[in-house]
Amino acid sequence: MAYNGEMNTESYKKMCGEAAAREVQSGDIVGLGTGSTVYYTIKYLGELTREEGLGIIGIPTSIATEKIARESGIPLGTFEEYQELDIAIDGADQVDPGFNLIKGGGGAHVREKIVATAAKRFIVVADETKIVRTLSMAVPVEVLPFSLGLVMKKLSELGATPFLRLSGNNYFITDNKNYVIDADFGAITNPKKLETEINKIPGVVDNGIFTNLTSEVYIGANYGVKTLRK
Ligand code: A5P
Repeated sequence: MAYNGEMNTESYKKMCGEAAAREVQSGDIVGLGTGSTVYYTIKYLGELTREEGLGIIGIPTSIATEKIARESGIPLGTFEEYQELDIAIDGADQVDPGFNLIKGGGGAHVREKIVATAAKRFIVVADETKIVRTLSMAVPVEVLPFSLGLVMKKLSELGATPFLRLSGNNYFITDNKNYVIDADFGAITNPKKLETEINKIPGVVDNGIFTNLTSEVYIGANYGVKTLRK
């Protein structure tokens, strides 16, 4: 049964990832998120580029995404070149009914938030397991290494249990060469306030709470793809 469950989650990711890709038009500058769900969006955009003449420029949010997009044949640009995007598509770790998100399970949330903010339309793709009543996952917080101790202390004072993210025996390092603290606040009743409070701590680059950014959520489930719009 567990095996079957795994298979279903993967097919739900593929369904919603590809459905969102169909929203992209020729000529669009497209923010490409990071993770195992938007992976299917990127692969499908590559297919449309190679086989149906879709002409887009992708702006990747991570080194991993850049590699997948390049291998898929999507022409790429940088955020330096294009700061106004037509659309951005990305996954999420949790989505609440107000379209607030927790992102950063893969540690890419800083660039993801920059790209989502610059996009006219931000579509989140998520299988149904990501949909929650209240955000409650530990919040990924990217931190300048210099300020690690201070940020751990201040997050505790804000009420979190902070865990420094590891990768094997080493500290996890982001594409921006920083550390990530996963700050467990339990249930988050006011995501906007917490997002702002965390970002006031000196040395915090940004955190994985995304508020007021998402225009649509494409949910993959056993009934197909459900689209929620604001
Ligand atoms: C990357 O750091 C994250 O923000 C991902 O976008 C998020 O964790 C969703 O990834 P999955 O689609 O792999 O669950």
